[in-house]
Amino acid sequence: MKIVFVGCGDITKDSAFICRLSRKIDSVACVDLDLGKAEMFAKKYKIKRAYSDYETMLEQETPDAVYLAVPHHLHLPMAKKALENGHHVLCEKPVASTLDESLELCEVSRQYDLKVGINYQYRYDKACYAIAKAAHGGDLGDLYYACCNVPWHRENSYFTDSAWHASLQQAGGGTLITQASHIVDVAMWILGGKPVSASGINKKMKFQNVEVEDTFMGILELDNGRLIQLSSSMIAEPERCITMEVFGSKGTGLYQGHFFPKSRFVGVKVKKKKPPVRGLHALVASIEAFRQWIFDDRPYAMPLENALPVMAAVDAMYRSANSGRMETVDDRYLKYLD
Ligand SMILES: NC(=O)c1ccc[n+]([C@@H]2O[C@H](COP(=O)([O-])OP(=O)(O)OC[C@H]3O[C@@H](n4cnc5c(N)ncnc54)[C@H](O)[C@@H]3O)[C@@H](O)[C@H]2O)c1
Repeated sequence: MKIVFVGCGDITKDSAFICRLSRKIDSVACVDLDLGKAEMFAKKYKIKRAYSDYETMLEQETPDAVYLAVPHHLHLPMAKKALENGHHVLCEKPVASTLDESLELCEVSRQYDLKVGINYQYRYDKACYAIAKAAHGGDLGDLYYACCNVPWHRENSYFTDSAWHASLQQAGGGTLITQASHIVDVAMWILGGKPVSASGINKKMKFQNVEVEDTFMGILELDNGRLIQLSSSMIAEPERCITMEVFGSKGTGLYQGHFFPKSRFVGVKVKKKKPPVRGLHALVASIEAFRQWIFDDRPYAMPLENALPVMAAVDAMYRSANSGRMETVDDRYLKYLD
């Protein structure tokens, strides 16, 4: 797969390193507004050419896929451009900075015979997968609810080095959309329902000079009656692992992630199932699964449509935090699901 990298920032360091190690991926170009950064990046990750302008790169390169890892408000316009130029897209999570933009991207993508994947790589995290398969296979009995905690830590440089993180318009929010949307995705997947109502509270506990929340707590109700309790922050001192507990009538699945993810079951014995595509880390597996989707038409866990319920849930949780009431989830995304 010939791939170009858009945005030479934090996550692309990992993705480009992974692609460099794969014999099946050819890293043909990268682009960043800062040409010096793009050139250093190209040198470090053995990428053939570096650019400072996205459209120029698209005029000159003929990749199979465009990997987008830029501020959230750029996902929609840049994914559209990639599609117009005939390229498949692997877009970093979230789909976009708002639900409206996410729905627009989905609508536009249907005009093309091209694939758009959203890199919610926890779908390929072996510990999340083991819990999901145990839940779906009935090992945990009737499923009740999940408690998720994302106690992460960010320094002030998180907002000064990447100013878009501090902007509501560019990021779409803070810890909920940027960090916790991964776990919202896997919790909904494990509990097997679509979000219907949400409540939440967001706070700026530590970082006062930014537009987005550093702490979010919320509850999500699914259409099958199951519940997700969520707390997420970027102010934990020190940072702790993500945890998720999934409670069922027969037993409980416990997740701890994310660099060295672990799953464990209490009250029940479970034979753990392994993800269909494996890698040292979920990100490795997600990129390889995307490649197999493009070339072999094997299913990818996160086609754009599958990421829309996450955006709808996040949107309702933010609306609730603003209104102070429980909010109904906007269900316009349903028409895009099979
Ligand atoms: N999957 C994951 O676990 C994971 C982890 C971290 C970040 N992300 C996602 O990856 C994306 C990028 O996040 P990041 O942390 O790497 O951000 P970052 O700020 O570190 O990097 C973004 C890069 O994009 C560049 N950029 C901005 N506008 C551009 C333009 N018009 N053309 C070319 N380059 C441009 C910036 O100069 C910067 O180098 C976001 O969607 C984020 O949510 C995903």
